[in-house]
Amino acid sequence: MLQAMNESQVAAQIDLSVRLGRLTLKNPVLTVSGTCGYGDEYAPFMDLRRLGAFTTKSVTVKERKGNAPQRIVETAGGMLNAIGLANVGLDRFVAEKLPVLSRLGVPAIVNVAGHSIDDYLAVCARLDPLDAVAGLELNVSCPNVCDGLIFGTDPKALAELVKQVRAVVKRAVLIVKLSPNVTDITATARSAVDSGADCLSMINTFVGMAINVERQEPVLANLTGGLSGPAIKPLALNLVYKVYQAVAKPAGIPIIGMGGIQNWRDAVEFLLAGATAVGIGTALFIDPTTPLRVLAGLEDYLRRHNLKSVRELTGRLRPNRNEPPAG
Ligand SMILES: Cc1cc2nc3c(=O)[nH]c(=O)nc-3n(C[C@H](O)[C@H](O)[C@H](O)COP(=O)(O)O)c2cc1C
Repeated sequence: MLQAMNESQVAAQIDLSVRLGRLTLKNPVLTVSGTCGYGDEYAPFMDLRRLGAFTTKSVTVKERKGNAPQRIVETAGGMLNAIGLANVGLDRFVAEKLPVLSRLGVPAIVNVAGHSIDDYLAVCARLDPLDAVAGLELNVSCPNVCDGLIFGTDPKALAELVKQVRAVVKRAVLIVKLSPNVTDITATARSAVDSGADCLSMINTFVGMAINVERQEPVLANLTGGLSGPAIKPLALNLVYKVYQAVAKPAGIPIIGMGGIQNWRDAVEFLLAGATAVGIGTALFIDPTTPLRVLAGLEDYLRRHNLKSVRELTGRLRPNRNEPPAG
């Protein structure tokens, strides 16, 4: 009895809450865009109220059917997808999907994609006033829609987009999702932050391809797709670390880290590298309850390291203490 009391008291002392701009989440574990629909498809597999937040599939002004199949292929340690932003479009999202999502009891981050600044403005201006929308995440980096890539790779174009979207997003937290398909990700991170982003999320997928050797054809109808899953984790971690050091930490802007997270250890790595929260995507295809396992492991880790708040982990990475080889 005494032991049980002590354990619950200790458990009560651990604070998992994090802040993304003015949005406070009860814990730092989120789903990532495109891997669990609009919430209702995923809800039968996990109690979504346990998540810090749920992120929707990209929403565009008009409904999109997406790319022709084959759109997904498994690769060593990951998967390639070329879904092509298939989604129900803004009107149906507001009328059909958002009311269901808002009843699931989890803060909703709506991911937004477009072909032009006007597209992003139309979606953001319509969604920002709605109480059901806690955050708006700009997908400026989808590698599968050719004219969508420009915003994510050109710091000037990104600055213009974020500045104009910032002017219409007054209530929701504005998150800019960075593309890894650039030479210097700190340049796009900086332009997003300087133009008014409240938060960065990173990373979207890397452009990749797979070939069917018997048919001597690309596996994906789109030729290329976005690589996600454990294969990209070390790359994602390095980019989060770089952006945290060069941009996010000095500006006081939180990062949602993602890319190949499968377990609590991966999540802790992202937090130590500088993330404030973590997103889980491809791992959900193997085990939809991955976020619960990550949360339990994270809480246990904090307890073992005598930390009272998960916020203490952000950027806590220490310098390497290995002795240099003698001589
Ligand atoms: C099937 C699939 C669909 C995706 N769709 C979107 C999307 O619509 N919008 C977006 O911003 N990112 C999309 N992504 C990228 C993920 O949100 C995430 O950035 C990436 O997969 C890295 O995380 P992970 O390795 O945990 O999956 C998609 C990823 C996958 C695997």
